Amino acid sequence: MTTGLAAVLAGSRLLPVLTVPSVASAGPLADALAAGGARCAEVTFRTPDAEQVVKAMAAHGGLTVGAGTVLTAEQAERAVAAGARFLVSPGFDEEVIDKARELGVPVAPGVATATELMRALKAGVETVKLFPAEPLGGTGMLRALAAPFPQARFVPTGGIGPGRLAAYLGHPSVLAVGGSWIATPGHLERGEYDEIRRLTAEAVERAAA
Ligand code: 3PG
Repeated sequence: MTTGLAAVLAGSRLLPVLTVPSVASAGPLADALAAGGARCAEVTFRTPDAEQVVKAMAAHGGLTVGAGTVLTAEQAERAVAAGARFLVSPGFDEEVIDKARELGVPVAPGVATATELMRALKAGVETVKLFPAEPLGGTGMLRALAAPFPQARFVPTGGIGPGRLAAYLGHPSVLAVGGSWIATPGHLERGEYDEIRRLTAEAVERAAA
């Protein structure tokens, strides 16, 4: 399970977190992300169209598409049925973990404390989303939390922009960085796909440096 997610995120070490208000954006958005060099994307379950967006973006073929903001086992089921190949949650929920395991997809639960991380490890999950990374204390928090848990792998997300990518990715426990700055609902509303491609390419380049 863990290996699966590590392989997905190893591609560009960047996880674009997407909140997509309309399924009409899905095709051009997938094109822009793939053209910019992204290898995966997380579609949050925060909009009524999320399932359709996952389906359309997964059909694009150029990206490994997962679902984010998965809060319940039922959402996990719907996400995977729509084509999500991995699941991300802002917090730790045993039912979501169990459902992901049953469905055979990797899952990254959110953790913000050592206790939550211990729960995730106990449940057999070693790849976690450190959320919300910047408000929690950024790379200082990451270093302190990672130290007692060398087996844990982190995807810090929350308040991170391109300028902070290198600082996170420089830590050996960090698999990838997640963030919504690459494609915001505003970009999508305005049809700014060139800008999304540019921001993706910039982030991929910084992540590779
Ligand atoms: C998430 O759901 O992962 C976060 O909303 C993304 O955080 P960001 O918007 O601060 O990048």
